[in-house]
Amino acid sequence: MSNQLEAFWMPFTANRQFKAKPRLLARAQGMHYWTPEGRQILDGVAGLWCVNAGHGRQEITAAVTRSMENLDYAPPFQMGHPQAFELANAIVNIAPAGMDHVFFTNSGSEAVESALKIALQYHRLRGDSSRTRLIGRERGYHGVNFGGLSVGGMVANRKAWAGSMLPGVDHLPHTFNLSKNAFSRGLPEHGAELADELERLVALHDASNIAAVIVEPIAGSTGVLPPPKGYLQRLRQLCDKHGILLIFDEVITGFGRTGEAFAAQAFDVTPDLITMAKGLTNGTVPMGAVLVKKEIHDAFMTGPEAAIELFHGYTYSAHPTAAAAGLATLDIYQREGLFQRVKEIAPYWEDAVHSLKGLPGVIDVRNYGLVAAIEYEPWASRPGARGFDTFVRAFDAGILVRSAGDMTAMSPPLIIERSQIDELVGTLADVIKATKAG
Ligand SMILES: Cc1ncc(COP(=O)(O)O)c(C=O)c1O
Repeated sequence: MSNQLEAFWMPFTANRQFKAKPRLLARAQGMHYWTPEGRQILDGVAGLWCVNAGHGRQEITAAVTRSMENLDYAPPFQMGHPQAFELANAIVNIAPAGMDHVFFTNSGSEAVESALKIALQYHRLRGDSSRTRLIGRERGYHGVNFGGLSVGGMVANRKAWAGSMLPGVDHLPHTFNLSKNAFSRGLPEHGAELADELERLVALHDASNIAAVIVEPIAGSTGVLPPPKGYLQRLRQLCDKHGILLIFDEVITGFGRTGEAFAAQAFDVTPDLITMAKGLTNGTVPMGAVLVKKEIHDAFMTGPEAAIELFHGYTYSAHPTAAAAGLATLDIYQREGLFQRVKEIAPYWEDAVHSLKGLPGVIDVRNYGLVAAIEYEPWASRPGARGFDTFVRAFDAGILVRSAGDMTAMSPPLIIERSQIDELVGTLADVIKATKAG
């Protein structure tokens, strides 16, 4: 193990394995990364589902440089700077109708914590302070802080801290159903009734004790699970019926992945809060946010004018550098019509990824907008290892994809060309064909 790599304890990484055979990225431009040796890698995941406008965007670099030269830092508590307000307005301009206030954070995880706290305090402010229970979903990913971990449902992320989770959390069942929905194109047909599990939890706890439901409109990190047809609508109806807030975690689905600014618009279901991060700054500067419905925001604005309404925030909330990156990013999305572009290219993407059906070991292909996952038959000797094996060999073959268990996930920058879709999927097909039993 090289000493030079030793000090950095890498996140979500097999550190010893990595340091024995590192995979380094030294440069990026457009649809590509380059390794330190100069090998070109086609980016099939937009970095980590975040570089939606493609790499090396000069407009963002210029905006960030100007902003840093002008205002390196401004305290966000009881003080403000113009770009923070501009960015909040720009987000509201592309948001679902009625969602008109933005609370800034530095990551998706922090956006989730903030959304959960806002939901809990909202009920309290309305005199509904027994509404404290939170409901997540199996296989959900809501970041790595304790609130998000508690409502999340990815077992490997939870098990080491199982004894320290938030109390009063339940989980809806996940929507993955291989026997009924394998190789669905777009939204699967079966599973809307899984939303009715919320009725069961209401019957168990009583609605007067439940604060919020949080789901990803398309579960991402667990391996891309588009919602069954009608599922999100049903969840919305049940939340309305029982006075429960609905939170969409759009950290992955936000900013064009579905062909709209937010999946809420693509699926025509408006939640009460939306969490976002990643594509907000094209991955350039850490930033997250919570988008909130007017009624929720307004419920906080009823006490004395001099009282702080929400005792929550971060030193770097709405950091000037991040705000500048966000403004430049949203400008690119709009100017280049990148969300609309996803709608246009999605059928080509769908055909391309579904061409992998029939390859050895491929048991499912799932897609929506510009995101997809390929599911493999697990190796009996090493279940869960096949996604990583595919990822490493794909990287050696010149494409960056994402592994999750026995899956490959892909979510390329929204600027991807048809020929690059062919290259990405063609290379993955070669890698799958060359797979040796594990
Ligand atoms: C749906 C969802 N929520 C939250 C997060 C956490 O975001 P971050 O890694 O910026 O904390 C992620 C990250 O992938 C995510 O996919």
